[in-house]
Amino acid sequence: MTRLLQLLLLVSMTVASEPSCPACSKYDYEEKVLERMIRMEFAFEKVLKENKIVSETVEQDLTRIKEENERLHATVDALKDQQEQAERRLDSLMEEVERNQSSTLEKIVSDSNTTLEQAIAAFNALKDQIATPLVYFHARTPQTSTLSNGEEIVYKTVETNQGNGYSSTTGKFTAPARGLYLFFMHTCTAANKYAYLQILKEGSVLIASFHTDKDYITCSSSQAFVQLDAGETVWVQCSDGGSNRQLYEHHSYRWTSFGGALIHN
Ligand SMILES: *[C@@H]1O[C@H](CO)[C@@H](O)[C@H](O)[C@H]1NC(C)=O
Ligand SMILES: *[C@@H]1O[C@H](CO)[C@@H](O)[C@H](O)[C@H]1NC(C)=O
Repeated sequence: MTRLLQLLLLVSMTVASEPSCPACSKYDYEEKVLERMIRMEFAFEKVLKENKIVSETVEQDLTRIKEENERLHATVDALKDQQEQAERRLDSLMEEVERNQSSTLEKIVSDSNTTLEQAIAAFNALKDQIATPLVYFHARTPQTSTLSNGEEIVYKTVETNQGNGYSSTTGKFTAPARGLYLFFMHTCTAANKYAYLQILKEGSVLIASFHTDKDYITCSSSQAFVQLDAGETVWVQCSDGGSNRQLYEHHSYRWTSFGGALIHN
């Protein structure tokens, strides 16, 4: 704008210093110069007015641009806030997913543990049903006086009595469970003494034995398998009594004993 004014002034000065009509009078010349100057003044005022309008417009434009700029800043800030919120939400969602996954995993583990424990309990119950219970006994030290016919032998010293089937009062074994049993008797006699013994089940002979030696204290054993129902009894009995029918027992060297075990149910 300033450059335009300078240009106008330069033009008007050039025009003023070189009158277009050299033949004209000085008055005429001055009048024309005046007239031009007035016109120039008008033009100058017009230019100033226009300049003012233009600068006002520019100012308004600047204000608008500033406001627009502020609005843009606000929008950018809001977008940033939204993005941060979204990131925070995403983080907490991912944490929740992780927590859910680990709690789901824990549930699966504990469920399978429960299932496993139930299976183990069922297996143990079944095992108890089919397993052979622990039943066995061994007793020794019968009375060593003369035996009479049909005398039931009572072995007084109980070495072991798992399942409590043997009675050291009666000398009889009572089966606590049904199954296949193995019984034995180990019998010693002094020189020239005789032992006629049998193992009986409910009065029926399972095995019969005779033992003697002319010169020494000797021993022998007899065994018998038998199937018993729970409550059935087995014992040792003298099958032939008499004055020289006599058992022998020595704590360190020779035991006369009776024993048995449940071997299959
Ligand atoms: C996490 O588990 C809860 C409860 O089961 C459920 O309501 C929620 O939607 C799950 N969250 C995710 C992110 O899977
Ligand atoms: C499974 O259960 C048993 C008994 O309740 C417990 O001792 C064990 O720690 C459990 N195992 C798991 C993996 O939870």
